[in-house]
This record gives sequence, structure tokens and C-alpha cells, in this order.
Amino acid sequence: MANISTRFFGLNLSSPVIAASCSMTGHVDQILKLAEAGAGAIVLKSIFEEEIYHELQEELSLRSEMHSDPEYLDYFDYVIKEENIRKYVRLIAQVKMATKVPVVASINCISSGDWVLFARKIEEAGADALELNMYAYPDVYKSGENEEQFYFDTINKVLQVVSIPVTIKISHYFSNLTGIVQRLSQTGIAGITIFNRFYNQDIDVQSQTVVTADVFSSPCDYILPLRWTGLLSGVTSCELAATTGVHSTETALKFLLAGASAVQIASVLYKEGPSAITRINQGISDWMDEKGFGKLADFKGTLSRSSSSEQAWERVQFMKYFGEKAF
Ligand SMILES: Cc1cc2nc3c(=O)[nH]c(=O)nc-3n(C[C@H](O)[C@H](O)[C@H](O)COP(=O)(O)O)c2cc1C
Repeated sequence: MANISTRFFGLNLSSPVIAASCSMTGHVDQILKLAEAGAGAIVLKSIFEEEIYHELQEELSLRSEMHSDPEYLDYFDYVIKEENIRKYVRLIAQVKMATKVPVVASINCISSGDWVLFARKIEEAGADALELNMYAYPDVYKSGENEEQFYFDTINKVLQVVSIPVTIKISHYFSNLTGIVQRLSQTGIAGITIFNRFYNQDIDVQSQTVVTADVFSSPCDYILPLRWTGLLSGVTSCELAATTGVHSTETALKFLLAGASAVQIASVLYKEGPSAITRINQGISDWMDEKGFGKLADFKGTLSRSSSSEQAWERVQFMKYFGEKAF
């Protein structure tokens, strides 16, 4: 049987199929099922910086009616953050006691503020690595450089307080994706995962209201991260992983061929349950046996732009003959 072990999060993983951060990875019993199914690592449900600050603000406005003493408010600030982090720390410790599969904590960050101190607590709780799910809200008053600086500031602050490997998960909303990903990969992080899937809006034309779009990805959503995996692999100083739209063995293999070290999956776990991981692992192993590959390194990245397929990946515009059709 082929060896499907890989490296991501600065760690050796038994499989390239990672359970991505989602509600399923926020509960010990479900996490253990994902581990038993063969996940290479589990990324815990994110602790949201926004959530922490929101909770904090509500509490502070209540308390400030009773207390105007800044020292008291400062103390309260600390207590509320402690409560949030305590729940998260407990989850990490429980999961670490129950499984040997690497456990990756996740922080959803939108600023490089004082939440960074949480990162140290996460490390102390025993997390094997930390993923920063990063997104800078577009701001008409900020330049692109300003927006990008947030990523570097946050990473630098976190790397100063922890010694566990730190990775980031980003979106594709950058003006020069190749340039920024390359520079981010040189900051000392252990990996970059492309691209996060966000909460999306849709419009109901009957009620004429803005509604929630489908929360889950569909199998064809892999095309965008696949293109960028192919383009970025070989350009970065750290490992790449891919997320969004990985529902099948075939898609997972495409990402590995394009140069990803691992794939992170969420939607298919909701649709199929943890057995999706077993199915994809088995499929990768069977395909490798069939093709005569003993380990992932034998084929990983062989179809990336830097390895062989430069022209194929760089084509953006449709050639004339693709669009011609007689009606
Ligand atoms: C219900 C749900 C909740 C999610 N929550 C988080 C989260 O808390 N933090 C995070 O970084 N990503 C979160 N994600 C994104 C996933 O980790 C994953 O990167 C994304 O869904 C793309 O993978 P998929 O196509 O397999 O769903 C969530 C996704 C789903 C579907």
C-alpha cells in the first residue's frame, strides 16, 4: 500500500486530508470521529477575534454604567477574554488527551490587536500548530499596501509569542496574489492554505431580500484554488495546502499534482460524514498503487507551473476558437 504521509503545519501528517476548521471540529466527540476516519490533522473551529471583541464591548457598556473606574474596566476586559480562551483551551486539552492526530488551533483575525496574547495560551494548552484565518475588510480610506500590512504585522506579532508552527489561511482578494503570497511565505510561517470560503450573500427575487447563500461548497468550486496552487507552487518558501471544493479523491489528487502538500475539507464532511476522509485517503492510495507511486513526493507538484506546465497555467483569456459556436 502506498505511503500517503505528508508535511504541513510544520508537522508530519499521516494523510494529506485535513479536517478543516468548521462547526464539526468544535466538539470533542465529532473531532474523535474525524481522527478515527484518518484525518491527517484536525483544525479546530476558530475562535473569532470579532466575537471576543463584540462580547467585550457589550459587557463593557453594561459595566461602564456602573463603574467609570478605568482600572475596573481594564480588569473586566481581562476576565472576559479569559473566559473565552478558557473554553477553547479546555477543548484543545481534551482533544489532545484523546487522540494522537495533530490538533491545530485556529484564530479568525481581522486586526493585529491584543488578541495576539491568546496565541500563547493556545500553545500552552498543547496545540500542535496554529492557523490564522486572515481577512482584511476592504476600506475605501486604505491603500492596498495598508491592507496588506495587516497580514505582516499580525504574523510578526504571533511569531514573537509562540514557538509552535504558525500557518495562515487566506482569500484570493489581493491585487498581486503571487507577490503577496511569496512575501508572506518568507515571514517564518510554516504554511499557507488557499483559499478560505466565506459566508456568502444571495438575493431572493420573490421576497426581494438579501439572504444567506449556500454555506457549503460544490464540487466545481475547486477550480479557482487549483489554478493558484498550480501557479504558486514552487514560488513560495513554505508548504501550500488547498481548501474549497475538495469533495472527491480526483480533486484531492489534482491539488497534489499541482503542488499542494495537503487539502483541507469541510463541506463534504457535512454531506457525507467523517467517512469522506477514509474514502479520499483510500482513493489516493489506490491511484498511487495503480500509477506505481510509492510516496506523495513521487508525484507532488509534477504538474505545477514551475515544474512543467508553465504555458498551461498562465493562459487566462479564452482563445478565439473556444467561443465560436454556430446556432
Ligand atoms: C459550516 C462551516 C463553518 C466554517 N467555519 C470556519 C471557521 O470557524 N474558521 C475557518 O477558518 N474556516 C471555517 N470554515 C471554512 C472551512 O474551514 C473551509 O476552509 C471552507 O469551507 C472550504 O472547504 P470546503 O469547500 O471543503 O467546505 C467553515 C466552513 C463551513 C462550511
